[in-house]
Amino acid sequence: MGTKTGKPTLEDVLELSGIELLHPGGFDITQRIGEIVEMKGKTVLDVACGRGILPSYYAKNFGARVVGIDLNPEMIKSSVARAERESVDGLTEFRVADSLALPFEDRSFDVMVNECAVGLTADPQKCLNEMARVTKPGGYVVIHESTWLKVIAPEEKADIAKRLGTVPYALEEWKAMMECAGLTSIWIEDWSAHENALKIRADRTVRDLNDVFSFREKVFTIVPGVIGRYGIMGLAHVFGSWHKLTPVWADGTLGYFLLRGQKPSA
Ligand SMILES: C[S@@+](CC[C@H](N)C(=O)[O-])C[C@H]1O[C@@H](n2cnc3c(N)ncnc32)[C@H](O)[C@@H]1O
Repeated sequence: MGTKTGKPTLEDVLELSGIELLHPGGFDITQRIGEIVEMKGKTVLDVACGRGILPSYYAKNFGARVVGIDLNPEMIKSSVARAERESVDGLTEFRVADSLALPFEDRSFDVMVNECAVGLTADPQKCLNEMARVTKPGGYVVIHESTWLKVIAPEEKADIAKRLGTVPYALEEWKAMMECAGLTSIWIEDWSAHENALKIRADRTVRDLNDVFSFREKVFTIVPGVIGRYGIMGLAHVFGSWHKLTPVWADGTLGYFLLRGQKPSA
């Protein structure tokens, strides 16, 4: 991936850490998605699939046929390896692709899932439009995203978004974007409870946000990884962001919502 310039976001740190589940709510929210779209045996596109842990979960637990796409070739490599390890390679397929230009025909999939990766694109509306386009009539589009629960100053919002590496919106704004993409019957569920933010690790329980990474991971992966890619000032920026952002979750400024829309039947 080479040396990067600029300031690392928390999203950059998560990706660099190598942890496999990259969203709050963990498998609980992934299981919930499978249930609310009646995923059993359906065709699914997992947009921005990360390291492939979710496509494997959908295939194993719902017998879904899942295509996963991600912009980062490293993520796709991990996804393929995981599917083989978990013996679901017959039900899954992965490719490098951009969520802003999905390489599929209109009306290709029963279900479209994007876990935590609409707000981090340059154009969230375009991402939702693309997802709606490749969904079959009557099919579902599901997202879960960071959501403002309180009104705060625009410059404060912009600073938080920049540090996070994803742009949160108010719930009404997320709903409006889904409707603008042509989706109807928007259904929402609140996942803002603090314990959901702690479910980010698939491999162990996290009791406090400071415990998302173990001491070993911080010392041997995060610190050298961030310094190697962004320099010592990059590391200082990450610490600053962490101290600024943990209270924002704790005091209820920022929450987390699951939204499901349906593409009208033709
Ligand atoms: C927060 S992670 C979410 C990964 C996975 N959905 C999960 O919940 O564990 C964001 C992912 O979005 C990918 N991504 C960022 N921009 C993208 C784009 N324009 N198209 C496709 N993937 C993108 C990143 O490479 C990363 O794997």
